Amino acid sequence: MKIWVPMDSAAKALGADTVAEAIGAEAARRGLEIELVRNGTRGMIWLEPLVEIDRGEGRQAYGPIGAADVPALLDGALESLGPVEDIPFFARQTRLTFARCGVIDPLNLADYEAHGGLTGLRRAAAMSGAEIVKEVTDSGLRGRGGAGFPTGIKWNTVLEAEAPQKYIVCNADEGDSGTFADRMIMEGDPFTLIEGMAIAGLGVGATRGYVYLRSEYPDAIKVMNAAVQIARQKGVLGSDVLGSGRAFDMEIRVGAGAYVCGEETSLLNSLEGKRGVVRAKPPLPALEGFLGRPTVVNNVISLATVPVIFEKGAQHYADFGLGRSRGTVTLQIAGNVARGGLFETAFGITLGEVVNDLGGGTASGRPVKAVQVGGPLGAYLPVAKFDAPLGYEELDAEGGLLGHAGLVVFDDSADMLGMARFAMEFCAIESCGKCTPCRIGAVRGVETIDRIAQGDADAMPLLADLCETMKDGSLCALGGFTPLPVMSAVTHFPDDFATTKEAAE
Ligand code: NAI
Ligand code: SF4
Repeated sequence: MKIWVPMDSAAKALGADTVAEAIGAEAARRGLEIELVRNGTRGMIWLEPLVEIDRGEGRQAYGPIGAADVPALLDGALESLGPVEDIPFFARQTRLTFARCGVIDPLNLADYEAHGGLTGLRRAAAMSGAEIVKEVTDSGLRGRGGAGFPTGIKWNTVLEAEAPQKYIVCNADEGDSGTFADRMIMEGDPFTLIEGMAIAGLGVGATRGYVYLRSEYPDAIKVMNAAVQIARQKGVLGSDVLGSGRAFDMEIRVGAGAYVCGEETSLLNSLEGKRGVVRAKPPLPALEGFLGRPTVVNNVISLATVPVIFEKGAQHYADFGLGRSRGTVTLQIAGNVARGGLFETAFGITLGEVVNDLGGGTASGRPVKAVQVGGPLGAYLPVAKFDAPLGYEELDAEGGLLGHAGLVVFDDSADMLGMARFAMEFCAIESCGKCTPCRIGAVRGVETIDRIAQGDADAMPLLADLCETMKDGSLCALGGFTPLPVMSAVTHFPDDFATTKEAAE
């Protein structure tokens, strides 16, 4: 009997380790021979710990499972959810980037290969750098960290730059509230990120890579370090990548926990051992990045998507999507929602479908009031915007920001003035301090919103003015995008900002 219990940190937080121990102990007590695999998560957090058992007739899912359920589980007395692939939330997905996550043993390279792993890298190893970059360009892949910049154009800039050394840097400083896709793939399918980075290295002529991983992800750090070691031992990394005669090696570097270090130039400063402050652009990191050398800085999901593009071909990937948003988006559904988790689908699904159909509405059972899409710098969208399709340009046209594709749901008890204040407070705390609109503006923002809360109507135009200044005058996205959640809250939820003066009129 083969049993899978996730070792993903969300599943662990819900008791997966205790369940795994209980299964081991109960099986030993019964003299039952089992093979226990610690896999990644299938992404349905409300069902975690989700245990799968194969008794010879395919994998059957059970969840959520507690330690007390284990004897009945091994007796076969618990009702199964059926195969994971048949659970509606899972069945509706198009899993390309996350195809293996939760299916395989994350640190078993043979299992990875048996599920299509390394096919892409083998194909890329037989291609020239220019051919590799063209394949990525043709796929239409855009940066999944949030900005949506075309990955192929970025790689081409690095490819064409003349330099004795180039680098691939993976941004794994996933700091957006309600996001976890980077963590899940690193914990559940680490070789796919390694393979993507190796393909990027062969493509642009970089022989060295770094994953800048946030310290708040101890499990991902452990898994990634172990996976890099295995990949090196098996010749996936090193001086002769899969016998191609080309070199690429990489290491994991741990950040110290600053939101702004997710901004690429702060990240590079931090990686170089300097204080994590933002650098002015230009020069672009693609030309003068890590240690002043041409550097590809890509998010985890962007790089982890590269292997499937090479495995199935650029066209296969580009065939999914909507408008200029090609391929799949890895939505992260969180907050006050009945069914939260990771949902990979072609771009184009509407916000309402995600929140109501997939998410099942709020966990509290109260009506949905707002959804913040795109992390702490994203807009608060009201139910009136639920027909908006999720694509970079499409959401932008509705005043939103897709960002890293995290969605945080709020019910009608949410105080949107409080949420706007939180956005300013967050910016004030996380500001690197380099430019005035952000450093001073965010502090003034908190004070101005407090004045509004106290009924001062004169503070309303002041807040709008301050937001304009921050938007236009900030050096990076932290100060520049903070006005988005603030002003979206003001625009869509005016009742929460009604001052005593207005109320009296
Ligand atoms: P950006 O628009 O300045 O740059 C996008 C990327 O394209 C950068 O890597 C830039 O160096 C590169 N680029 C631009 N022109 C290029 C060229 N000609 N050749 C090569 N490369 C070129 O956006 P930025 O500041 O990097 O990111 C902002 C976004 O980050 C926001 O939209 C937000 O959604 C997202 N974000 C994500 C977070 C997360 O946790 N994933 C946290 C905070 C913000
Ligand atoms: Fe630093 Fe804020 Fe200016 Fe960005 S906007 S450079 S975080 S002070």
